Amino acid sequence: MHPHFPPVSRGDSGGGVAGTPCTACHTDRNYTLHVEASYRSIPGNARWGLAPIEMAWQGKPIGEICLQMKDPNRNGGRDLSLLHRHAASDDLIAWGWEPGLGRDSAPGTQDLFGQLIKAWIDSGAQCP
Ligand code: HEC
Repeated sequence: MHPHFPPVSRGDSGGGVAGTPCTACHTDRNYTLHVEASYRSIPGNARWGLAPIEMAWQGKPIGEICLQMKDPNRNGGRDLSLLHRHAASDDLIAWGWEPGLGRDSAPGTQDLFGQLIKAWIDSGAQCP
């Protein structure tokens, strides 16, 4: 929850704006710096960019995020089965567990995350 530095804009697609698209600095993999800097690596993925704006979670209570995750109009057109596949095997989500030098990884593993999502779906995908 801190501003990106250097400053960037999301643009229409989430991929940045002309002149500074995300891919100007973020490549298809994490890049480890070999010089002194305030950070140790620049994160990367072939599809690096911001999620569509309708998927934004910032400032929303957990119940609202849950409903949004289940809503195909706001989750990239996914039913619950595709939502599970997205969580369990999407390579951009996988970045959270391989964030590169100098960043803390998400807790657990993507496999475990997939199992938890499946258990939630199998038990009725309730929202708080
Ligand atoms: C001009 C170069 C540049 C552009 C363009 C750029 N980034 Fe970055 N980005 C960086 C650098 C350098 C870092 C590592 C700096 C740091 O961690 O403080 C970084 C880090 C990040 C991080 C990790 C932040 C953190 O604190 O761990 C995210 C997320 C990110 N960028 C997303 C984006 C997105 C999305 C775009 C396009 C909309 C984008 N960046 C465009 C240079 C850039």
